[in-house]
Amino acid sequence: MTDLLVTGAAGHLGQRVLHHLVETLGVAPSRIVAATRKPEALAGWTERGMTARAADFDDPASLDTAFSGAKRLLVVSTDAVGAPGKRLEQHLRAIDAAGRAGVSHVVYTSLPGAYDSLVSFAPDHAGTETALKDSALPGWSVLRNHWYAENLLHALPSAMASGHWYSAAGDGGIPYIARDDLARAAAAALASDFSGKRTLTLGGDKTHAAAEVARLVSAATSKPLTVVPVSIDDLIKGMMGAGLPEPVARTFASFDANTAAHKFEIVTGDYKSLTGLSPQSLESWIKANAAAFTAHPG
Ligand SMILES: NC(=O)c1ccc[n+]([C@@H]2O[C@H](COP(=O)([O-])OP(=O)(O)OC[C@H]3O[C@@H](n4cnc5c(N)ncnc54)[C@H](OP(=O)(O)O)[C@@H]3O)[C@@H](O)[C@H]2O)c1
Repeated sequence: MTDLLVTGAAGHLGQRVLHHLVETLGVAPSRIVAATRKPEALAGWTERGMTARAADFDDPASLDTAFSGAKRLLVVSTDAVGAPGKRLEQHLRAIDAAGRAGVSHVVYTSLPGAYDSLVSFAPDHAGTETALKDSALPGWSVLRNHWYAENLLHALPSAMASGHWYSAAGDGGIPYIARDDLARAAAAALASDFSGKRTLTLGGDKTHAAAEVARLVSAATSKPLTVVPVSIDDLIKGMMGAGLPEPVARTFASFDANTAAHKFEIVTGDYKSLTGLSPQSLESWIKANAAAFTAHPG
């Protein structure tokens, strides 16, 4: 019986969800359909008895074939940065297809405070949450995933090279969480027998402002890192000066705007309730990944 389905199975999160389903939770690979635009990338899993199917949210027909027989389905949100509205269209196609396939429970990866967030693509997540609520699906779990600790590796290696981290986040904090911990949570939600409707916010146990992150990274790497406060407009100009297209620079700057407005400061016990575990602390994650902060920025 193939009753559990993971979309976006070739992505970073999707791969770790498959890992946690099989290795952490002991789910038989024969129960799992790994759906992706790139089934050929999943040979390692199909050799172990998993089923790989082609699924592209831009191709509804592919979803009808891919979702056939699934009872519980994880929709991993897509990654269309700088294309407002595109993710929402993609997610709506996935939810519609889940309904047509008779799926009983959809798990969806959203973002914290979806309806109230200044993150530029938050409306895509809010719209998806609303579509789930308005759907005829018997049950769903919205997992509002907090900011990955891995996101720090986008800006900080180049900031480490100069020792200056230009930030418009002010003293706003984020309860960063490792992507692998979120994959464990998504696997737990998918494999559970929860059949109702719930919205969980999954993040670390405490928030960290940029100055505190800089202190932890400096301690772990033995290299200086100072936060240089800038305005949102100057941050956007700086990113564009470094070669980022304006829509992408504006998207990244919206993360700082949301942080500065203290809108990421949502700490809950939901991670522990779902998994029975505490997430890795940011300090421990930074220590374990110290070398990546000082790697030459690509
Ligand atoms: N909380 C955070 O800090 C944070 C950070 C980054 C991203 N995210 C969100 O979380 C998601 C998973 O993160 P990640 O680290 O795994 O990102 P990633 O490695 O960049 O993966 C992107 C994901 O989007 C899927 N995707 C893209 N276009 C698709 C389409 N047309 N149809 C179906 N799936 C499509 C990919 O699936 P396949 O390649 O398997 O088809 C893949 O799972 C991201 O897509 C994004 O929405 C959250």
